[in-house]
Amino acid sequence: MASEMPEIRLPDEMSAVEISAPGGPEMLQLATRPVPRPEAGEILVRVSHAGVNRPDCLQRKGVYPPPPGASDLPGLEVAGEVVQLGEGVDEGELGKRICALVNGGGYAQYCIVRPEHCLPVPDDMEMEKAAAMPETLFTVWHNVFQRGYARDGEVLLVHGGTSGIGTTAIALANLFGLTVIVTCGTDEKCAAARDLGADHAINYKTQDFSARVREITQGAGCDVILDMVAGDYTQRNLDCLAEDGRLVVIAVQGGTRSEIAMHKLMMKRHTITGSTLRPRSNVFKGLVADELFREVWPLAERGQLLPQMDRVFPLAEAAAAHARMEAGEHVGKIVLAMP
Ligand SMILES: NC(=O)c1ccc[n+]([C@@H]2O[C@H](COP(=O)([O-])OP(=O)(O)OC[C@H]3O[C@@H](n4cnc5c(N)ncnc54)[C@H](OP(=O)(O)O)[C@@H]3O)[C@@H](O)[C@H]2O)c1
Repeated sequence: MASEMPEIRLPDEMSAVEISAPGGPEMLQLATRPVPRPEAGEILVRVSHAGVNRPDCLQRKGVYPPPPGASDLPGLEVAGEVVQLGEGVDEGELGKRICALVNGGGYAQYCIVRPEHCLPVPDDMEMEKAAAMPETLFTVWHNVFQRGYARDGEVLLVHGGTSGIGTTAIALANLFGLTVIVTCGTDEKCAAARDLGADHAINYKTQDFSARVREITQGAGCDVILDMVAGDYTQRNLDCLAEDGRLVVIAVQGGTRSEIAMHKLMMKRHTITGSTLRPRSNVFKGLVADELFREVWPLAERGQLLPQMDRVFPLAEAAAAHARMEAGEHVGKIVLAMP
């Protein structure tokens, strides 16, 4: 049972955006929902802002259902204030300004969060920026550093350089001493990525990215690739991956199937791996949060790590936010502001 917190009065109902049926952005509709109550070990957050991520679009289309037990509302990251504690949660959590990775339910005025998935919002960070950080930070940290074993002095190739994921990858690569090459679909996006700190940006529509990476690295290839395309990118990725290089796949926008030359993989001792964050256990996400808190969050606290913001939409305009993401016009993060 949730503990009584008379100092913070909570309404019974809240505004939320729900997926009325699988389909286009217009299926996102403003609704009234009961304010959820935290179970043991959970906290309730009054959401200030929620980040929009590509997986939310996939959930809206009906191809990426929420994992068992998660809210049916979209939204994988929030920033806000802790307003109620479930049984067993340290009372010191109440009133904290946090940002968090959530299993769903972010597109709402109140959201259930696990305290171990939170990071404290630094005093001088705006809540809209804090809301834009968890999903890409957890994803990039885990895939580039924990799975891809990237270390300073290495060369990282990131597809989708101006995506939410890509802009976070550029920032972390800069902070952790990696050379970062990105691909983007237009010259404007390439220029934007270079402004954000990419050492090289390749327009994948006008240039062969694999050949360009080999040129840039003087034939050696890159050490780690963060790939969100798969399909026919896989062999082209391997063709520009250095000996002992690691290819980490986080999405299959180019297709789920790839044919690769296994003898080349053996000759260059490549590793191919990949992961999806959302279905991972609470314990796993807590361990990533711990490492982020230790290794990365001090940089955010010093103002050295900030998200690249694209645009903030009011919650009621969530459909417009999804339409913008799907039009591919954005550079960086799209965020929703709660009423
Ligand atoms: N596995 C995980 O745990 C996890 C977690 C979060 C996100 N993701 C995935 O990561 C991707 C990025 O997420 P996001 O929220 O940052 O989305 P986003 O901002 O909408 O970015 C999507 C990006 O994909 C790029 N892209 C699409 N097709 C491409 C192609 N054929 N070649 C090169 N680039 C291509 C686009 O680049 P241009 O616009 O320049 O063409 C765009 O920058 C999504 O696919 C998402 O599903 C995975």
